[in-house]
Amino acid sequence: MTLIYNPRQVVLVSCRGNVQIMNRMMERDEVLPLSWHSPSASHPPMYSIFVQKNLGGAEMIKESGVFVVNFVPFRVVEHARKAMSVSGEYVDKLEAIGLHELPCEKLVDCFRLKEALGWLECEVVEHKEVGDHVLFLGKVVHSFMGVDDKRPFHVDGDEFATTK
Ligand SMILES: Cc1cc2nc3c(=O)[nH]c(=O)nc-3n(C[C@H](O)[C@H](O)[C@H](O)COP(=O)(O)O)c2cc1C
Repeated sequence: MTLIYNPRQVVLVSCRGNVQIMNRMMERDEVLPLSWHSPSASHPPMYSIFVQKNLGGAEMIKESGVFVVNFVPFRVVEHARKAMSVSGEYVDKLEAIGLHELPCEKLVDCFRLKEALGWLECEVVEHKEVGDHVLFLGKVVHSFMGVDDKRPFHVDGDEFATTK
C-alpha cells in the first residue's frame, strides 16, 4: 500500500567517518538514498534529514558533525537502488555503485557527488532520536544549484516516478 506522504523526492546524502571493521578503525565514505528530508529554516538556512538509527551512516554523521545533501537527476535511481544492496563495510561503496566523489566547497570531513544537479553542505547543529530514526538538523554552510533536470521520486517499494 502506498504511504500517504509518498511520492517523495529521493536525495543521496554523503558522509564520511570511521567505522570498526574486524577490530580496526577505518575511514569510509558512505552514500545513503533518503526520501525523508526537508528544508527547516530560511534564516539562517537549515535542512533536516532523518536517518535510521541503526545505520552506519547515522554514526558517521554524529561523529563528523557534517553531511551533504545531493540532489540528483532521475537517471541516478539505478545507482540509488544499488546503494541499497551494497554495504560499505567491505568494499568501496561509491565505486561499487558507480558514483563519483568531489571535494566540498566548505566542508573538510565530507564529499559531494559529481553526478549531483545541486547540493547542500550542512553542519549538524542538533541531533535527536525520533523513534527508530535520528533527526539531524543541519545549518547549510554552502549550497549550489546547477542546471536543473527531472528528479527521482519514491512511490513505493521498487517504484519511482519523476516530474514532467
Ligand atoms: C528510495 C529510498 C528512500 C530511502 N529513504 C530513507 C530515509 O529517508 N531514511 C533512512 O534512514 N533510510 C532510507 N532509505 C534506506 C537507506 O538508504 C538504506 O538503509 C541504506 O542505504 C543502507 O546502507 P548501509 O547498508 O551501507 O548501511 C531509503 C532507501 C531508498 C531506496
